[in-house]
Amino acid sequence: MTDPKYGEREPPSVPTSGDSKVLHRSLKEQPRKVIKADGMFLYLEDGAKILDATAGAAVACLGHNNSSVKEAIAAQMDRFSYCHSLFFSSDAAEDLCRLLVDSTRGQMAKAFIVSSGSEAMEAAVKMARQYFLELHPPRSGRIRFIARKESYHGTTLGALAVGGHVARRALYEPLLSPNVSHVSACNVYRGMRDGEAERDYIARLTAELDDEFQRVGSDTVCAFVMEPVVGAALGCVPAPKGYIAAMKSVCDKYGALLILDEVMCGMGRCGTVHAWMEEGVVPDLQTIGKGLGGGYAPIAGMLVSHKVIDVLGKGTGAFAHGQTYQGHPVACTAALEVQRVIQKEALVERVCRLGPLLAQSLRQSLQDHPHVGDIRGRGFFWGIEFVRNKTSKEPFDPSEDVAMAIHHLGMKDPHNISLYPGTGTVDGTLGDHILIAPAYNVDEQQLEKLVERVAAVIREYFETCYSPGEKAGNGTTNGVQNGINNDDPRLNEDAPVLLL
Ligand SMILES: Cc1ncc(COP(=O)(O)O)c(C=O)c1O
Repeated sequence: MTDPKYGEREPPSVPTSGDSKVLHRSLKEQPRKVIKADGMFLYLEDGAKILDATAGAAVACLGHNNSSVKEAIAAQMDRFSYCHSLFFSSDAAEDLCRLLVDSTRGQMAKAFIVSSGSEAMEAAVKMARQYFLELHPPRSGRIRFIARKESYHGTTLGALAVGGHVARRALYEPLLSPNVSHVSACNVYRGMRDGEAERDYIARLTAELDDEFQRVGSDTVCAFVMEPVVGAALGCVPAPKGYIAAMKSVCDKYGALLILDEVMCGMGRCGTVHAWMEEGVVPDLQTIGKGLGGGYAPIAGMLVSHKVIDVLGKGTGAFAHGQTYQGHPVACTAALEVQRVIQKEALVERVCRLGPLLAQSLRQSLQDHPHVGDIRGRGFFWGIEFVRNKTSKEPFDPSEDVAMAIHHLGMKDPHNISLYPGTGTVDGTLGDHILIAPAYNVDEQQLEKLVERVAAVIREYFETCYSPGEKAGNGTTNGVQNGINNDDPRLNEDAPVLLL
């Protein structure tokens, strides 16, 4: 049959996920549909009730279906839904930004609200550059950023360039700014040498950062960028005490800014409102996201220090960056109410108190498992790294798709638990981990049950599904059906789904 658009040629047909017109994460997979959610549970169209052990991507910090957040959103929509931030402000934006600034105990001066973590990181990168242009005299030669390997700071081109995650950058490498370089991540499990003391490890990383400033030209660097607790890229890896202070001291030495990306680890997730509060090192710029709006609206933000605002105030007086939906009144209302509930119910204190229980129970259940290499994290933000060999820490072959297969098994009966998989844990390509990041309002019993389910999935996977060397693909990931049911041979190619 001839198609008028393609002449004699057959129209190209691509594998599709059923008749869905959504460009899903994979063209080869149709995700199951959620029809309602409540508390820690997601209810699916096919009748399944899934325990959301990760609050999505460490987002739904109040759980789902919170009535006071819903009411606040509805009331704001009754008043008005949108106004343009070039001409107007709103109570929602004013109150949210005040709450955020107050939450830093006066350390930060202003908040800038956008719709995603990637946008917040773009804003931080641009703000850092503008800061140096507004200094007297301007430092226009400050055009570079130093970040870390095995890091993720967002998916837009600026944020992706800052990130050091090899696999996520690969496709777009030719489009990414060459003005970013990467030093080693701080990863005790993988990076600290045998017999090396934490203090010496930090000193080694400090020297590496110092060397990098000197290599690229210390007066060319705008900022050093890092996550206080590395989330999806490394699987909840906290820096040992003293590390962030050491990095800040190198930034101060060379007059560069410190940008802390708290999109995933911040807003209470690690047991302090801001992750930097654990060590008390205040960043010059900070990004926040996920837990800010708890999933009730797409919202993220940048917090700006007095140091930066003072320079802009004496300069042009305006941040040269704006977006149609910045400070969106409904999104701000949602985040404001989420944060008020967190404060009213003392949920950050709860995360701080129950975090050690979660850690202890994960370790008791899984520490001795032959394929669990490391369990690390803070607060309600925990990562489990899988290894082929516990002694040598040898990772699994990426084609075995271990993290994704564990996720798929978790989603099946009788487990019915959503675990957040991640890959590239070792070097951006090799390595598998899962994240556990429950809502802040779960109780002790719920935490215990959650850990029981996590442990059951991991044990079953390695006992009955995993066969060494078996390549993933064919609609399965190492023996676990992933829900694709299609005989089209094109679907038998490996489906590279980037885990973002
Ligand atoms: C640390 C970190 N920064 C930035 C981002 C980007 O956020 P978003 O996906 O909302 O654009 C993410 C998302 O996972 C993240 O984990």
